[in-house]
Amino acid sequence: MALSAIEVGDLTKDFGGLRAVDRVSLRVAAGERRVLIGPNGAGKTTLFHCITGTLRTSAGRVSLFGRDVTHLPEHRRTALGMGRTFQTSNVFMDLSLLENLVLAIIGTDRRKWVMHRSVGTFEAVRAKAREGLELVALAHRANDAAKFLSYGERRQLELALALNSDPRVLFLDEPCAGLSPSERHSISRMIGELPRDITVLMIEHDMDVALRLADRVTVLHRGRAILEGTPTEVQTNPEVREVYFGHV
Ligand SMILES: Nc1ncnc2c1ncn2[C@@H]1O[C@H](COP(=O)(O)OP(=O)(O)OP(=O)(O)O)[C@@H](O)[C@H]1O
Ligand SMILES: [Mg+2]
Repeated sequence: MALSAIEVGDLTKDFGGLRAVDRVSLRVAAGERRVLIGPNGAGKTTLFHCITGTLRTSAGRVSLFGRDVTHLPEHRRTALGMGRTFQTSNVFMDLSLLENLVLAIIGTDRRKWVMHRSVGTFEAVRAKAREGLELVALAHRANDAAKFLSYGERRQLELALALNSDPRVLFLDEPCAGLSPSERHSISRMIGELPRDITVLMIEHDMDVALRLADRVTVLHRGRAILEGTPTEVQTNPEVREVYFGHV
């Protein structure tokens, strides 16, 4: 069997008396684009946080690339190749986009960049930063301060920041939330064009975006994974239409 990027077994998360995630199992193959859908409060973000290590699980197991990470803190999972948005706090509003990327690059690879600092190395960092901005179509704003970005452009910058650590698996929680239709289109196109060596697990409410980007879709409802299938299988499933779309 192909290598799994993410493997979750019987994962449960309780908040006091509330079971937000209820014995969810799923396996995402390396290179796959998996989209999580489900109504508000279904447990999607909580499941995400348990996989990334932001939250401790109440029960069950999480593996990344075959390595059991259930008890590893978030930064150790990041070291295994986990990238994620949207940690807005990582954006320095008064610095330019290029400077933000440069800092992020230096931050993720401190030993490589800082211990052997030289003009040549710094040029390499700047070049990588520029590449990162090009990838999310923000190269033309490289010298503008982050505070002058529109909401949609800030999300593009956050995507660049997440990608800058060369993640093997990228977690995106509603990357298109709050965007205009044209911004939504450009972010989803960028996600669609990510190289296939990056596995993507994404929560998405916009059904068009979700079904266009996904190889497979997992439907969460009241903390449980009620269905997994191709976009077509999910779209035509009567139970999903009932719980998610509110009609059959
Ligand atoms: N830190 C927390 N403490 C207590 N309850 C929480 C906490 N985080 C989430 N919950 C509850 O857990 C359930 C699942 O929430 P979660 O945010 O995972 O849902 P979601 O599927 O991401 O919803 P949405 O589509 O609205 O983002 C909800 O009932 C929510 O109120
Ligand atoms: Mg959520």
